[in-house]
Amino acid sequence: MAKESTVQLPKKESILIANWKMNKTIREALKYVEVLPPLLEGVTMPIWLSVPFTAIHPVRQRLGNPFVIGAQNMNDATSGAFTGEIAAVMIKEAGGDFVLLGHSERRQYFHESDEFINRKVLRALESSLRPVLCIGEGYEDREGDKTQAVLERQLTEGLKGVMPEQILTCLIAYEPIWAIGTGKTATPELVAQTHAMIRQVISSLYGDDTASRMTVLYGGSVSPSTAATLSATEGVDGFLVGTASLDPESFAKIAHLSENAHP
Ligand code: PGA
Repeated sequence: MAKESTVQLPKKESILIANWKMNKTIREALKYVEVLPPLLEGVTMPIWLSVPFTAIHPVRQRLGNPFVIGAQNMNDATSGAFTGEIAAVMIKEAGGDFVLLGHSERRQYFHESDEFINRKVLRALESSLRPVLCIGEGYEDREGDKTQAVLERQLTEGLKGVMPEQILTCLIAYEPIWAIGTGKTATPELVAQTHAMIRQVISSLYGDDTASRMTVLYGGSVSPSTAATLSATEGVDGFLVGTASLDPESFAKIAHLSENAHP
């Protein structure tokens, strides 16, 4: 009989992440974080805020634990002649603890490749930033039965070189492109099916045990009206919320609804 491993792997985390995208000045961000904490009373689920670079430091200074602050992108290089770019160490020193990587808007509008995203994942890990690897298929991929191939490629390429002992530092956010900012939410059946597919890929790369502990978030038009059903959906460990996170009231509502599903 195989010997039980004595290595204590971290427990699976359920996390709620706000993705403000290119919204909120420092002044607006500070107003938001003043309003948010009392609205979250009773919520024990970790709340992560992915804010514009300029807001990381002021928001970190203002919000104590247990809030986690992060960025929405970074460069793969440590420093150098890359005008307009931001390095992982800069995010870290500003008070960021995580970074969204491979968001579909970065892939689409800034032509980021899986290979580039992979270099960022490795750099983030090296710099003690937790990468949230965003993956998702387009409408045509879904219609053309290519979802599995697309997600498999994004995961396999994006996680290349990530060691077994590092993988649970990463989070996966599944965001079907056709559901982002469109008001079209994927059905719970589709989400459950796709999250299972993602876990299968993780399992083929890192084993069943790790796959079952991996945090896999859902994102794409999550709102107070869809959060309850989606958070009760098999395999969903939390959300990455864009539009509905911009208003502290609706974001807090989503937090309470998610909390009920993951007490
Ligand atoms: P959305 O954005 O909630 O506005 O669809 C989600 C995201 O892009 O992370």
